[in-house]
Amino acid sequence: MEIEPNWERINKVYRKCVGDQRRVQIFFGGASSGKSFFIAQRVVLDTMDGRNTLVLRNVARTIRGSSWNEVVKAITTSGALKYFAISKTEMLITCTLNGCQILFTGLDDVEKVKSLTPAKGVLTDIWIEEATEIARDDYKQLEKRLRGESRHPKRITMSFNPIFREHWLFKEFFGHWVDGSKEYRDEGLSILKTTYRDNRFLTEDDIKALEDETDPYYKAVYSDGNWGVLGDVIFRNWRSEDLTEFKQTADHIYYGLDFGFSSDPCAVVKLHYDKAHKRIYVLDEIYERGLTNTALAPILKEFVGNHYVTCDSAEPKSIKELQNMGIRAIGAKKGPDSIMHGIQWLQGHEIIIDTKCQHLRNEFQLYQWKKDKNGASMRVPEDRNQHGIDAIRYALESESTARYATTVQLKGL
Ligand SMILES: Nc1ncnc2c1ncn2[C@@H]1O[C@H](COP(=O)(O)OP(=O)(O)OP(=O)(O)O)[C@@H](O)[C@H]1O
Ligand SMILES: [Mg+2]
Repeated sequence: MEIEPNWERINKVYRKCVGDQRRVQIFFGGASSGKSFFIAQRVVLDTMDGRNTLVLRNVARTIRGSSWNEVVKAITTSGALKYFAISKTEMLITCTLNGCQILFTGLDDVEKVKSLTPAKGVLTDIWIEEATEIARDDYKQLEKRLRGESRHPKRITMSFNPIFREHWLFKEFFGHWVDGSKEYRDEGLSILKTTYRDNRFLTEDDIKALEDETDPYYKAVYSDGNWGVLGDVIFRNWRSEDLTEFKQTADHIYYGLDFGFSSDPCAVVKLHYDKAHKRIYVLDEIYERGLTNTALAPILKEFVGNHYVTCDSAEPKSIKELQNMGIRAIGAKKGPDSIMHGIQWLQGHEIIIDTKCQHLRNEFQLYQWKKDKNGASMRVPEDRNQHGIDAIRYALESESTARYATTVQLKGL
């Protein structure tokens, strides 16, 4: 079926990418530049045109809140809803005109990644959303998934924020990239850099937030869409590991919670603490935006059961509400220097994060010391994107302050 896109609905900067047949296509840049939305729009058009797309993220459970919603929104706003059958339970969208499909999964669902095939024809496209989350080896494996006969050239499309220049994606694809340019194209590769200025669908508030950014790192990466240079990262003592088996026997469990609502997520963590070996295992996480305490309570109940959960004490009202709804919520004591003390205490441990805890892995990767105006590192942590890390500090407060209290006491003697 011949599809004529509704060009008005597509941000101008992306229009020439609609028919781009290059093998590898990279859409990178600042936050809210319309990358994901455009690719979702294109996936919808492509599906009606006979392509089958696999939409991927590193961890399956992060898809529902991101690329899944974007594709569904693109279908709805394009007026094509009548041509699609949408199954959220199967994470599968089928075009009823031609039987072509959009499939969704995470790289952590190894079996599914290997076995997923469209009902009709072969996979012609893979879209890797937030591609900086994935490892190079996984990318290489994915390339091999694009095989079999099709009238459409096979493509891999990636979207991401350029979080740091040492990333394998930079080494692999940006050899000819000129800083300051907006695009690069050769026979097999196209790269397009966009920022919020390219997205005419943003609200005044969205724009203001990005323009008012003062932190040099965040401004470079998220406002201006440039490859970031990480400053002095706070934690280097962590790694991620598949803890599926380990979880069965973990028994020294702690829970922590950092409140959030609209712009900040509410973050909850489940940890195992191995005091003898000074190891902290991060077993599970919840990150949710827009939840009232009433909506949060049942999710929390399932996560923590009857265990205590140590919460940010800046919200006594929320703690009280959660208690009234049957959650054993307690407030962290905090106290002077608690942030610095908590960070130093965590730095003295080995931190092992389950591979499925993608949000925490992202936080640990980027959490850094603030810089002064000359670029020198200050002993003050950035106050952003550390929701899960704060929750970890709260969860283990009883352990960390026990030792702290002793030291203070001894000093006082
Ligand atoms: N063509 C469009 N029509 C309507 N809304 C759009 C369009 N393009 C983008 N938007 C809206 O603009 C906002 C930001 O777009 P989007 O999420 O695609 O940005 P992004 O570049 O993927 O950002 P990030 O780097 O943060 O993931 C979203 O709320 C999205 O719905
Ligand atoms: Mg996006």
